[in-house]
Amino acid sequence: MGSKSSGKSGGKQSSPAAAGEKKRKRFGKSVPAPLPLEGRVAFITGGSRGQGRSHAVALASEGADIIICDIAADIDTVPYPLGTKAELRETAVLVEATGRSCVAMVADVRDTEALATVVSAGLDKFGHIDICVANAGITGFSKFQDLDDQTWQDMIDVDLTGVFKTIRAVLPHMLEQRYGRIVAVSSMAGRMGNPNLAHYVAAKWGVIGLVKTLAMETANKGITVNAVCPAAVDTPMLHNPAMYSLFCPELAEPTRDDVAPRYASMNRMGVPWLAPEEISRAVSFLCADAARGTTGQVIEVSLGSSAGQH
Ligand SMILES: NC(=O)c1ccc[n+]([C@@H]2O[C@H](COP(=O)([O-])OP(=O)(O)OC[C@H]3O[C@@H](n4cnc5c(N)ncnc54)[C@H](O)[C@@H]3O)[C@@H](O)[C@H]2O)c1
Repeated sequence: MGSKSSGKSGGKQSSPAAAGEKKRKRFGKSVPAPLPLEGRVAFITGGSRGQGRSHAVALASEGADIIICDIAADIDTVPYPLGTKAELRETAVLVEATGRSCVAMVADVRDTEALATVVSAGLDKFGHIDICVANAGITGFSKFQDLDDQTWQDMIDVDLTGVFKTIRAVLPHMLEQRYGRIVAVSSMAGRMGNPNLAHYVAAKWGVIGLVKTLAMETANKGITVNAVCPAAVDTPMLHNPAMYSLFCPELAEPTRDDVAPRYASMNRMGVPWLAPEEISRAVSFLCADAARGTTGQVIEVSLGSSAGQH
């Protein structure tokens, strides 16, 4: 049985926020409530655009200072352009508009030294790093038998080894301070098979194995490690001519409108794609102090696409 409202007279119940505000005002001055991530510092990879940018702005809006990096260059085996330096700067401007500080640097997540340089610049500026969002990623499409060595290798190097290297770059610091919130961005492709994406699927399943293992190793050290698995998200990874042609091979130059119904048919809600901000909600939840009881978990933001599976 559900519990009923405890309001004796059946009058309006004040919300917890309103009650808190009343309390704060009781002693004269009204003091704004602290933001949930006030005093925290978050390191986010792939921050030039898309979900990385959205996570940076979302965590900054909740009070965190931000460190972002991005390759800001293309990779030959990736069939669409990657983020740019100008976009990286633009994300920093958006973060700063929330009132927080931002360290933004070019770094490839395949490069251990480059990641160490970003982490040490972040530590110099802020003194600590509390949150790590291993978000940078690439995709590409090929039938299994047509996957060449380089395409396979680049995918594993960025989407799996890059996540490992990103987390490894901040882990000693988090272990020392006995606090950390680590979120790796996997994908619904890491929860099931997916034709034309064997290399991507393998990398994204690998990320989940990595997350679960590290979660066990750090469970009693104040560090949580979780994965977020989005379905299709409205970013340049999804919206590019190569992806459009894969979904509408019969059209010479398919458009956003042409592909929308095809994407929509892949999930239970019939929605073509999620906004990056919808993934940021899951990331924010996992990054909060209050999420200390959640580790080794996979949070799907999947439009119900796996509801009939697990
Ligand atoms: N868009 C989707 O439909 C979707 C769905 C599920 C999961 N994902 C995952 O979400 C994450 C973010 O992707 P997105 O949708 O924002 O795509 P995106 O292409 O818009 O952004 C990815 C960012 O990562 C950067 N990046 C790529 N390789 C890098 C490297 N080696 N080092 C540093 N930065 C690098 C890119 O330059 C780009 O700015 C990825 O891990 C992706 O696999 C995306």
